[in-house]
Amino acid sequence: MLQIGDQFDHFQIRQHIAQGGMSDIYRAYDLLSGKEIVLKVPDKMTIGDPAQYERFQRELEVMHTLSHPAIQRGLGSGRFNNTPYLVTELIDGESMRDYMRRAAPVSPETAAALIRKIAEGLAHCHDHGIVHRDLKPENILITSDGQPVILDFGLALTKHAHRVTYANLSGAAGTPDYMAPEQIEGQRGDKRTDLYALGTMFYELLTGRTPFSGDNTLAIMAQHLKGLVPRLDREQPGISSKLAAVVARSLQRDPDDRYPDMLTLVHDLDHLDEVDESILEHATGPASAAPFWRRFPFVLPIGFAVLLLLAMILLAFGLQTLHK
Ligand SMILES: Nc1ncnc2c1ncn2[C@@H]1O[C@H](COP(=O)(O)OP(=O)(O)O)[C@@H](O)[C@H]1O
Ligand SMILES: [Mg+2]
Repeated sequence: MLQIGDQFDHFQIRQHIAQGGMSDIYRAYDLLSGKEIVLKVPDKMTIGDPAQYERFQRELEVMHTLSHPAIQRGLGSGRFNNTPYLVTELIDGESMRDYMRRAAPVSPETAAALIRKIAEGLAHCHDHGIVHRDLKPENILITSDGQPVILDFGLALTKHAHRVTYANLSGAAGTPDYMAPEQIEGQRGDKRTDLYALGTMFYELLTGRTPFSGDNTLAIMAQHLKGLVPRLDREQPGISSKLAAVVARSLQRDPDDRYPDMLTLVHDLDHLDEVDESILEHATGPASAAPFWRRFPFVLPIGFAVLLLLAMILLAFGLQTLHK
């Protein structure tokens, strides 16, 4: 690991910002440009992996293709003392993971505004034939004026991607919480795969938890493949069925049942009153999945009491007539 004050190529290390999925992230001073930048170098687990250099190259290539306020800008890449590195702009912000820890559940308005901005950034990616495929709160920074910035295009799929296989670099490194069912099944995924991950983050912003949970990776994956799509309006107070329908549509297991693209999702967020709620009939959370008497536990004893009372009255009447 680099130390504060170390010089690495033409960069002076100033701070270790984070340990990513497979890299160490530093704030550094670029002696050439005189600016502070972010330096990404492989961590000690992946430092000898030749695929890392290619991964950084591709990441830079992807960032160079894109230009949007919600997308991190790439500045350069290289190799120093045999260590590959990636240089990106420094973003002064809080990771969405930290934000959620601090603030979730947030109001529907706040969540929708943030999701909308992320969706716009992703629409820009998709327009350029790029699918992120590793969206999660760790890979999004939020600046102090509320602008989300999407990072980490290390697993992105590009239109002209020369096929690279990342034997031990692929999604296996990360959490399955945001993985779409088709990804779990081993498919490459498309823009609707990103939409599913975004839906998961939407759910998490609104409730403070991910829609599918389990004791371990496999259990969570099984939930994504077989679990019931949750109905937020029944799980969380203050969420309208319209908004619940938007989240449910994003979290459909079959990509064909999701929004076809980011802008359709954004359109629904902007016109919530027009949202078709019929999707909720197939989307059931624990509440509606429970049998009737478990959802309304008081109905059963009251019913019994009423029946008992009726029986007693009838019996009393019967006895009376017998006595006459
Ligand atoms: N440009 C940046 N500005 C500020 N923090 C950053 C920047 N890039 C990355 N980070 C921080 O470093 C973490 C890991 O970065 P990331 O690119 O996701 O690496 P990895 O590919 O190893 O997961 C992020 O979650 C974020 O907290
Ligand atoms: Mg990351």
